[in-house]
Amino acid sequence: MLLIKNIGTLATPQGNTARCGAEQGRIKEYKNAAVLISGSGVITAITENGKLPENAENAEIIDACGALATPGLVDAHTHLVFGGWRAHEVPLKISGASYLDILNAGGGILNTLVNTRKASEDELFERALLFLDEQAALGITSVEIKSGYGLDKETELKQLRVIRRLNEAAAQDVVSTFLGAHAIPDEFKGNADGYIDYLIAEVLPEVAKEKLADFCDVFTESSVFNVEQSRRILLAAQKLGLPSKIHADEIDPLGGSELAGEIGAVSAEHLIATRDSGIAAMAASKTVACLLPQTSLYLGKPFARARDMISAGVPVAIATDFNPGSCPSLNIQLSMNLGYLKYRMYPGEILTAVTLNAACAIGMGEVIGSVEPGKQGDLVIWQADDIAMLAYRMGSNQVKTVIKKGKIL
Ligand code: NIG
Ligand code: FE
Repeated sequence: MLLIKNIGTLATPQGNTARCGAEQGRIKEYKNAAVLISGSGVITAITENGKLPENAENAEIIDACGALATPGLVDAHTHLVFGGWRAHEVPLKISGASYLDILNAGGGILNTLVNTRKASEDELFERALLFLDEQAALGITSVEIKSGYGLDKETELKQLRVIRRLNEAAAQDVVSTFLGAHAIPDEFKGNADGYIDYLIAEVLPEVAKEKLADFCDVFTESSVFNVEQSRRILLAAQKLGLPSKIHADEIDPLGGSELAGEIGAVSAEHLIATRDSGIAAMAASKTVACLLPQTSLYLGKPFARARDMISAGVPVAIATDFNPGSCPSLNIQLSMNLGYLKYRMYPGEILTAVTLNAACAIGMGEVIGSVEPGKQGDLVIWQADDIAMLAYRMGSNQVKTVIKKGKIL
């Protein structure tokens, strides 16, 4: 049992479902609060105004010394299992090569593919575990990880097995997404349809049988997969019980966000170039828009139309997109700063975007994402007094203490 006492402000969204419109910014604030977490890691009581929960005599105690506490942060979009880095792309980009230029020349994702195929399962696992440790220190208590650097059956399954092992070994809850349709491997060059057929016939059934993924994702993009190919793989995965996510409108608006609405995707991600029709489609299906502002920064692209999405009633989440190409950053706090500076989101909207809405984007809204009795005891105590500080200060890790399932990390 753990008692966190003397919390100056406990700030949290509330509920089990994604918040949209004006609700996105609605934050419950308890002053001079305490939170009691049971031995099994579940929140059992929240008190305020200096009162302490009953039956807490045997609890281990943390004194928050008047600081701000929030739910643990949820990184709902990463590509955290991969071999190698891609620092050699920096000079290419400075000379003017775009993200798709590098990919079309056999670099980018295809370069990471070579290093991921080469690496053993244990090597990938040990490295990813260190990334997750770094994320824990940054306040991230749950993480989604995608495959997509194998692009053949053997390596995709290897990546997914690593992700499942990480869920057992890391401090965080780790959710797994099958992203076999991330690029077209050389074996299928010029034959995207053939590659999708292969994934559906050979790889997806194995992924489902071994229960290696919770979601299926696809990179819907010019010179990668078109809308029809994306629809095929996502519907095939739905039939096997895997709900959909989509990398949509990252560079060109091909219709990925419209497809997300049509097939009831749980989330559509990136959405840098999304049109009005895509926003309307996502609002109608309550698809969570998972926005990745550090990727916009890193690719020198515009920032997603977060305000228009919130106005239209699309629930917005914010994540990192950690990967070796378009976002080599594990730090979701920087995404929160950009949520303020570039999306013009308010501090409460940003907090919901990295907690409850992010939890819903990974199918965990009933378990994590808010501090409420019955939810898991995942909290961050900050070196800050209020949530505006989280959007405002930049470049330092503002985390003081991280608590996962009632354990201090
Ligand atoms: O979300 N766009 C596709 N996937 C990643 C990048 C992966 C990579 O470049 O290695 C993204 O930006
Ligand atoms: Fe991504």
